[in-house]
Amino acid sequence: MRENNVKIITNATSYFMHQYTKHYLHVKKPADRLPPPPEDKEYLLYIHVPFCTMFCPYCSFNKFNYTKEAATHYFKHLREEILHVKALGYRFNYLVIGGGTPLIDEEELIQTIELVKKLFDIKHVSCESDPNHIQPKTVLRLDGLVDRLSVGVQTFDDTLLKKLGRYEKFGSGEEVYRKIASMLGILPITSVDLIFNFPNQSKENLLYDIETLTKLSPEQSSFYPLMTSSMVKSSVTKTLGKFSLTNEYEFFNIIKESLKKSYPSRHGWSFSKEKEAIFDEYVIDNEEYVGVGSGSFSFINNTLYHNEFALDKYAECIAQRKSAVVKERTFEANSRMYYRLMVDLFNGKLSKKKFEIMFGIKIEDALKKELMALKFAKAIKENKESIVTTEFGDYLFLVLMKEFYMGMDRIRNEARKNLSL
Ligand SMILES: C[S@@+](CC[C@H](N)C(=O)[O-])C[C@H]1O[C@@H](n2cnc3c(N)ncnc32)[C@H](O)[C@@H]1O
Ligand code: SF4
Repeated sequence: MRENNVKIITNATSYFMHQYTKHYLHVKKPADRLPPPPEDKEYLLYIHVPFCTMFCPYCSFNKFNYTKEAATHYFKHLREEILHVKALGYRFNYLVIGGGTPLIDEEELIQTIELVKKLFDIKHVSCESDPNHIQPKTVLRLDGLVDRLSVGVQTFDDTLLKKLGRYEKFGSGEEVYRKIASMLGILPITSVDLIFNFPNQSKENLLYDIETLTKLSPEQSSFYPLMTSSMVKSSVTKTLGKFSLTNEYEFFNIIKESLKKSYPSRHGWSFSKEKEAIFDEYVIDNEEYVGVGSGSFSFINNTLYHNEFALDKYAECIAQRKSAVVKERTFEANSRMYYRLMVDLFNGKLSKKKFEIMFGIKIEDALKKELMALKFAKAIKENKESIVTTEFGDYLFLVLMKEFYMGMDRIRNEARKNLSL
């Protein structure tokens, strides 16, 4: 597709999605509990560990300065919240632990995973880490407890790492490479998180990251486009320079092309060596999930719930009313259909039959105009059973997903307005 057309369509899509999330993605109705499970099935459990020893300029995730005392209290309340969710009747088979930095307090984390495994029949555990908590002796303790560990690298380029403040904290690109190399193979899956399209990142920088990743050869990698919601825009500009979308499409295509051989399975911005590998975008892949911990989201019965963010209030909620849910928002069928279209095509394929079973209406009838626009933009192709993305569509749905994530940041921003870190 011609460069100019790419730009026009991408900007229009981005604008539309921005307006859409601004209108629909806010959670304002006060709430004080999660409902019991609407169905007798196994759900996904997300645990949030909101502590960091540094704050990266691009990161909008819910986090606070780490102190041993705050973390010890927090993990205790977290385990209480898990017990309350169990008492409500929930069963889980999949556990995702994110942050922040989940491994910041190894003992507490292990105790928490062991509790979840005792309470539920967990088939898969996925956890995040920074490069400072992946020494082989730590990772060996996780053997049998964690199936997939994703390590935040962001880039192997030292100039960029210095600007991000990560060089001093986590080491040079080479040191991070060596740290990961020494723990590869201990757990079934190690995944490396990288970010592309940093301000002033050149094509050579990007190729260096791809080459280093391929040489390191972890089982999986996520290559996120830099997301610059209003929460981080000024800190990104201050530390890295002005953000631009000019290279994003080209860079995404370079990544896709370069990783095609060694990582044949792609799931949006995640790449895997194995065809049927489990990825870790719990919000994206799971229709319904329960989140525990400060600022966690749950999506149950068409309703998005979010927990209290402030650590002291989170602790109070758990102690007094056994639930940290403070706000909720129910989504109508129309928004859920848009969401399904976006998520499935972000992963490259939408099954028409699955859509019809889910919503009781054919996608061609429900989203006629949207499908026409996407076909006109040469973003999708269609046959009797399914809709798939074109090469340009792969990128367009990445843009939509990015806007969606930035929309979620607005909810975080609203909820964290008066918090001290
Ligand atoms: C919640 S962070 C936890 C990682 C871990 N604390 C660390 O710093 O290594 C998970 C991943 O989200 C990605 N991420 C965070 N902010 C992002 C942004 N603004 N744009 C794109 N990716 C982002 C990073 O790749 C990061 O490793
Ligand atoms: S990227 Fe990781 S270390 Fe940096 S602020 Fe986000 S969660 Fe904390």
